[in-house]
Amino acid sequence: MKINRREFNRGLIGTAGALALGPFKDQAHLRVNGARIIQNLNALAEFGKNPQGGVSRVAYSEADRQGREYVMGLMRTAKLDASIDAAGNILGRRAGSGANLPPQLFGSHIDTVPEGGNYDGVVGSLGSIEVAQTLSENNIKTRHPLEVIIFQNEEGGLIGSRAIDGELTEKELDLVSRSGKTIREGIKFIGGDPTRLAGVKRKRGDIAAYLELHIEQGGTLEAEKIQIGIVEGIVGINWWDVTIEGFANHAGTTPMNRRQDALLAAARFIEAVNRIVTSMEGRQVGTVGRIQALPGAPNVIPGKVVLSLELRDLDEAKIKLLYEKIYVEALQIARASQTKFAFVEINVNVPAPTDRGIRRLIAEAANELGLTTRLMPSGAGHDAQDMARIAPVGMIFVPSVAGISHSPREFSRPGDIANGANVLLHTLLKLDQLDLS
Ligand code: HGY
Ligand code: MN
Ligand code: MN
Repeated sequence: MKINRREFNRGLIGTAGALALGPFKDQAHLRVNGARIIQNLNALAEFGKNPQGGVSRVAYSEADRQGREYVMGLMRTAKLDASIDAAGNILGRRAGSGANLPPQLFGSHIDTVPEGGNYDGVVGSLGSIEVAQTLSENNIKTRHPLEVIIFQNEEGGLIGSRAIDGELTEKELDLVSRSGKTIREGIKFIGGDPTRLAGVKRKRGDIAAYLELHIEQGGTLEAEKIQIGIVEGIVGINWWDVTIEGFANHAGTTPMNRRQDALLAAARFIEAVNRIVTSMEGRQVGTVGRIQALPGAPNVIPGKVVLSLELRDLDEAKIKLLYEKIYVEALQIARASQTKFAFVEINVNVPAPTDRGIRRLIAEAANELGLTTRLMPSGAGHDAQDMARIAPVGMIFVPSVAGISHSPREFSRPGDIANGANVLLHTLLKLDQLDLS
């Protein structure tokens, strides 16, 4: 069915009515195997398992490589044609029946933060493979080709998806990732080829749509007892490395008024970040999450500090404004403490709205499954925000117990995960009936 994109977005086309016809009717009963998702989730959790009960499967680590092999095995079982692209993303392809239609992509990531949990990224990755397995077991051929995509190094700055939308720069390849390898080395380590990144770029029109299932990572759905979150937009995330230069000197012989203490300046800076970010109305957040003081001895005044600054908001202009205020205050701290601040922007992910038409299809799919929904923003970053630059995207959230994430205590209930995967399945089938022009 050919549908004009503008009319689709404006809700002028009753998709439910139009799509209840044809092959779609026979597919309404389809359900994923929720128990199989949990079984696979537990098996994947063995790679990088840590004593806290979560996983440390940072991108380009041995655990990451093993987890990726495991996931590729699941793809083959689901009759997907599994391969690794030059950027190191894993793709599982399935042919469609239509002539010359672009593929529908859906997936997430399986790398984690250090001491992370078993659900962030994993639910959407394994949920997507389960959707493909369900289609295969029920002999359903979609019109569009399908591609399950497991993006590499989501947690280190959405690297795999930024290679696809063409934003990943040559310079970034030399940054050292949390594994200790540079991104360039990491891409080779997981089976990609950093010299051929141009080949993975896709442009608008190459992808019919991208869908991502994910845990909420906040506590709204649980508190409001709602089963499915429909994401309206994903925050922008900017990272800087901040280097503070003071002067390393003897901690016993240098009087308090003669010091150029870089760590003291850093402490004032951290406090200023928090004060500035909370001084404005809104949902913006700012974090200093990593700090290193050098040379790092009890009897030496710290001569140098390197720390991270992260700012997030749905509005890019707000991020810019916050950064300007923080920068001005840093100059004042530098003057007062006789230190120097240098800011290097290392990663920028601009905010992205999801597609209005796809949001409506997600709502329809959830309603037909008898699930409650609400629209919500995403405070976490996702590969979907990069895909939004080249294709219409939709995101489906399921509840996170107690709103905990990036922690070994991260947990989502099996029933909620199965609900999310069923919504993904039916949204995909609805989208498959449309040729958005
Ligand atoms: O950091 C983030 O927002 C995400 O979980 N990658
Ligand atoms: Mn995460
Ligand atoms: Mn994630």
